[in-house]
Amino acid sequence: IKKGEKEEYYEVDEREKQPNSEQKKWEAEQLASAMYKFGAKDSSKNDEYELLLEDQIEFIQALTIEGTVKEKKPEISETDRKKMDIEETKKSLPVFPFRDDLIAAIREHQVSISRTYANNSEIHHCPKILIIQGETGSGKTTQIPQYLHEAGFTDGGKKIGCTQPRRVAAMSVAARVAQEMGVKLGNEVGYSIRFEDCTSERTVIKYMTDGTLHREFLSEPDLESYSVMIIDEAHERTLHTDILFGLVKDIARFRPELKLLISSATLDAQKFSEFFDDAPVFNIPGRRFPVNIYYTKAPEADYIDACVVSILQIHATQPLGDILVFLTGQDEIETCQEMLQDRVKRLGSKLKELLILPVYANLPSDMQAKIFEPTPPNSRKVVLATNIAETSVTIDNIIYVIDPGFAKQNNFSSRTGMESLMVVPISKASANQRAGRAGRTAPGKCFRLYTAWAYKQELEENTVPEILRINLGNAVLMLKALGINDLLHFDFLDPPPHETLVLALEQLYALGALNHHGELTKLGRRMAEFPVDPMLGKMLLASEKYKCSEEVVTIAAMLSVNSSIFYRPKDKIIHADTARKNFNHMHGDHLSLLQVYNQWAETDFSTQWCYENFIQYRSMKRARDVREQLVGLMQRVEIDMVSSLPETIPIRKAITSGYFYHIARLSKGGNYKTIKHNQNVMIHPNSSLFEELPRCVLYHELVFTTKEYMRQVIEIESKWLLEVAPHYYKPKELEDSTNKKMPKTVGRATKTE
Ligand code: CDP
Ligand code: MG
Repeated sequence: IKKGEKEEYYEVDEREKQPNSEQKKWEAEQLASAMYKFGAKDSSKNDEYELLLEDQIEFIQALTIEGTVKEKKPEISETDRKKMDIEETKKSLPVFPFRDDLIAAIREHQVSISRTYANNSEIHHCPKILIIQGETGSGKTTQIPQYLHEAGFTDGGKKIGCTQPRRVAAMSVAARVAQEMGVKLGNEVGYSIRFEDCTSERTVIKYMTDGTLHREFLSEPDLESYSVMIIDEAHERTLHTDILFGLVKDIARFRPELKLLISSATLDAQKFSEFFDDAPVFNIPGRRFPVNIYYTKAPEADYIDACVVSILQIHATQPLGDILVFLTGQDEIETCQEMLQDRVKRLGSKLKELLILPVYANLPSDMQAKIFEPTPPNSRKVVLATNIAETSVTIDNIIYVIDPGFAKQNNFSSRTGMESLMVVPISKASANQRAGRAGRTAPGKCFRLYTAWAYKQELEENTVPEILRINLGNAVLMLKALGINDLLHFDFLDPPPHETLVLALEQLYALGALNHHGELTKLGRRMAEFPVDPMLGKMLLASEKYKCSEEVVTIAAMLSVNSSIFYRPKDKIIHADTARKNFNHMHGDHLSLLQVYNQWAETDFSTQWCYENFIQYRSMKRARDVREQLVGLMQRVEIDMVSSLPETIPIRKAITSGYFYHIARLSKGGNYKTIKHNQNVMIHPNSSLFEELPRCVLYHELVFTTKEYMRQVIEIESKWLLEVAPHYYKPKELEDSTNKKMPKTVGRATKTE
C-alpha cells in the first residue's frame, strides 16, 4: 500500500516561471505563417479571418508554466499504440503494474478485520474499505472490475458493482469493458441507469449511476448480490455519491465479506480515508506530461466565439494532436459545432481535415462511441464536451485543451427555496483537472480563455459539493424510504446546511409525503417508487385523482428529456420557428409538449414527421422509452391509464399538485413575482406564453442567464392552489392585488437571449 507516497505528478498550479522565450518565438513564427496563409492570400474573400487572427496574437501571448517533472518520453508512441491490440493497451495503463498488489490489498482486508477484533481494538473500525487514488485515465474504472473478476470475486454468482456520477460514463465504460472482455454488452458486462437497464442474469460486472445504486438500496438494503462495490469518481462529490458514502459505510459493519472500494482521481483521498475510519489509501502513481498553460490577455466577451477562433488557430499553427474543448451544455456545443463547421467550410482545402465530435449527457450512444475511435492519419479531432470529459470520461491522445472556465451548475437557495440552473465559473481544482487532460499521452497545451489574474483571484479553490448547494427533497425522500429517520445524525462526509434539510422536510410535508411526525406517508411511499424528483412524482400520482394519467405520464416523459425537443438549424431558423409555433398551446408549454408527443404517436412514431416538423427524433425516441418505463411504474402503484382530453384543466391541476411551489403572478410592468418570496422572474422567450402574460403561471424550472427565466410555463388559476395545497397556501396570500389586466406590450423581456 502506497500510503503517503510522494506525489510525482506534474502540477500546473502556482509554479509560474518566466515565459520561455524560445517557445514564444516559435509560436510567433507559426502564427505569422498562418496569417500569411489565411490573411495574405485570402483577405479578399475572408476578411473575417484577418480580423480573427489579429485577436489571436493577443491570445497567444504565452505565459508558460513549467512543470516540476522533467519531460518524460512517452513510453509508447502514438502510432504503435494504435497498432496494439486490446491486450497490449490494457497492459500500457498505469494501473496495470499494480494489478497484483491491488488484489492483494483488497483480499488482505479480511485478515485485518480478524486482527482488529483479536486485538479488541475499535469495533467500528471497518478495514475492508479501501480508498484508491489515481490520475484520471489510469484505468481505475475500466480495469479494476476486470481484475477482480479474473481474481475470482464473481465466483458464486456475485456481482461487482461500480458507480458513476454520469450516465454517459456508465454507458461508455460498460461498452468499453464488454469490448475488452469480448462479450456482448448487457450479458456479462452491463450498465443500469435511470429509465434504462442493460443487464441480464449473466451480468457480473455492472456499471450504474450513483442514483441507480441509491435506488437499489430500496429493494436490496444489504447489497446482497454484490461481492464488491466500487464507488467511483468519488471526487465528483455528487449528491448521490455523498449519500452512498454514508450508506456503504453502514453496510460495511454488518457485511464483513463485502469489499468496498472508494476510487478518486484527486487528492481528496485523505479526506475519504478519515471519513471511513482511516481506511488505507492505495495510490496508483500517474503518468503525466507537462502541460503549458496559456491565458488570454483580457477577458473574452464571447467565449464560444473565442473557442472557435482558438480551435482554428491550433489547427492552423500547431502540430497534429487532438483538441478537447470544455463547454457548459448541449446548446453551447451545438452552437460551437455549427460555427466551426461553417468556418472550416469557408477555409476549404487549406486546412487538414478536422473531425468535430460532440459529447454531452443526452448524446445517443452510437455517437458517443465515435469520440473513442482513433483519429485517422493526417487529420485532427476536436471534441466539444461538457464537464463529462473533465474526469469521468477519458479520451486518448488529447494534446490541446481549450478551457473557457465555465460549467453549468444547479444551485438552490434555502432562503428563497428556489432552485436554478446557471452557468458559473469553475474552480481552480476543476481548471487544473481540465488542463491535465492535455498531458496524458504526451506534453500538451492548455488554452484558458480567461486571464491569469482571474485564475488567481476569482476562481474558488474547489467546487462546492452538490450536497451543500442543491435541493435535498429527493435525497431526503429516498433516505426516509430506506427507513433512515434521523437525518440530522446521518453520517455525512460534509453535513448539508441545517436549513436546507429542514426545508426539504417542509417541502415533503407540503407535498403530503411526510406526516407531521416526519414519517413517510402512504403517498410518500408511492412517490419513492418513481425515480424522479418528488414534485414530479407527486404530479404523476395526482393524475389518478384528476383522471388524466395518460397525459401526465407523457408530459413527465417529455420534461425528463432534458435536451431540446425542437431542432433549430441556423440556416432554417424561420421555418423551424414557424413549425414550433404550430405546436403552441394557449395554456402553456407542458401542453405544447403533449401535443408534440401525441401528434408524433399518431404518425406511428415516424422519423419523417419529426424531420418535417423540426423535431429532434432522438429526443422523442428517448421520451417514448421514458414514457414506457413510467407507465410500468404507474402499474406498480396501481394507477390506471386514462385520458382527460380534450379537457386540459384536470391536467393542469395535476401538474399544480406537484409544482405548487413554482408559482408566479403577474405584477406591474409585465414582470412576474413568485408568490411566496416575491422574487422577480420572467417567462422564457421560447415559451408559448411569452406574449400572453397570463395572470398566474406555474413553471417547471428556473434558468438564470441574464435574468431569472421560467422555463416550461403553464397558465393556472390561483384558486386551484387552495384545492391542491391547502396546507401551503392561505386564501389571503392569493388575493389578487392587480385586478386590471396588464397591457400586453409593457416591459416584456426582449427575445434576444
Ligand atoms: O477510471 P480512470 O480515469 O482511471 O481510467 P479509465 O476510464 O478506466 O480509462 C482507461 C483507458 O480506457 C483510457 O485510455 C481510456 O481512453 C480508455 N477508454 C476507452 O477507450 N473507451 C471508453 N469508453 C472508456 C475508456
Ligand atoms: Mg474513471
